[in-house]
Amino acid sequence: MEIRYRRKHFAGVLGLSESQLSEVDRRLNSGREQEPPEFYTPGDLSAYRRALGRHPTPQPLRRQLFLNFKGGTGKTSLSVAYAYRLAEMGHRVLLLDLDSQGHATQHLGIDGEACELTLHDVLAHKVPIAEAAVSTSLAEFDLVPANLGMSTIDMALMPMAGREYKLRKALEPVSDRYEFVVMDAPPSFGLLNLNALMAADDLLVPVLPDFLSFHGLKLLFETVAELEEDLGHTMRRIHIILNQYSPTTRIAREARRALEDHYPEFLTQTIVRQSTKFAQASSEGVPICVFAPGRKGAEDVDSLIAEVLSGSSEGAKERIS
Ligand SMILES: Nc1ncnc2c1ncn2[C@@H]1O[C@H](COP(=O)(O)OP(=O)(O)O)[C@@H](O)[C@H]1O
Ligand SMILES: [Mg+2]
Repeated sequence: MEIRYRRKHFAGVLGLSESQLSEVDRRLNSGREQEPPEFYTPGDLSAYRRALGRHPTPQPLRRQLFLNFKGGTGKTSLSVAYAYRLAEMGHRVLLLDLDSQGHATQHLGIDGEACELTLHDVLAHKVPIAEAAVSTSLAEFDLVPANLGMSTIDMALMPMAGREYKLRKALEPVSDRYEFVVMDAPPSFGLLNLNALMAADDLLVPVLPDFLSFHGLKLLFETVAELEEDLGHTMRRIHIILNQYSPTTRIAREARRALEDHYPEFLTQTIVRQSTKFAQASSEGVPICVFAPGRKGAEDVDSLIAEVLSGSSEGAKERIS
């Protein structure tokens, strides 16, 4: 589905009232009186932002990896929502789809199998990452897509010298082009994810409120500790994000308490509530902030962004309990 913004939503994203938006409409249409458009595109968003000069304060590059070795914890849902929303706010964002299943790519309405270049070409054949990146209708947002061709990447990396550092190196030439490089990892434990970890400043770990997820965190923290010891790479920030939370089940409440007890310094204030909008948005190929703006899924992603950017997100917990 094409990404479209209703007028009121579009004005809101730009921080304008609807009548202020009408003025900008007229200005951009060189004064001609016209019916105000009912819908706007992501391309309009970029153009209006430029015309208004309303850009957020540029951030130094942060490379952020959504990772959990377990599948189905929300890596793709949250990384796509997070990355698109940052770009919608006016930040320059590159999303890397690292999973050969190409879910992040599909989630954005792009057919991965039709994409000629993926990270496989970048990591295994030294194709510049800028060539593999596809631009989207939102000028601030680029994607390096994935498809099944990615599935042999670990084997391709295996015999290479410096095989853990390929992604980090590949990102260097574009480091001043983006403020955020957001990576959606596959749920596997191999060279590609090792590359992703070595290329990341921040680790964002979505977990489900159950005890399997809780135990899986131990493996993740061991891996991060080994990375520090053996390869000298230290994560700047680690955020554990409780996802798909519903306070109505006892197991969820208990798992949340266990996380609060064991990982208080990593657990985000933001809890992403269970919301069917995530699945609906992904099946429509539309980011959740466009599919269901102002609803709880989109709201929680906003709160996550605010917290990760500033280190605080007061009130997030109150909404849940
Ligand atoms: N907060 C949420 N509430 C309800 N469903 C969710 C939520 N987050 C993710 N999901 C759903 O859970 C499933 C797995 O999510 P996904 O993002 O694909 O996980 P992963 O990338 O970790 O495998 C998908 O069907 C997705 O729509
Ligand atoms: Mg995924």
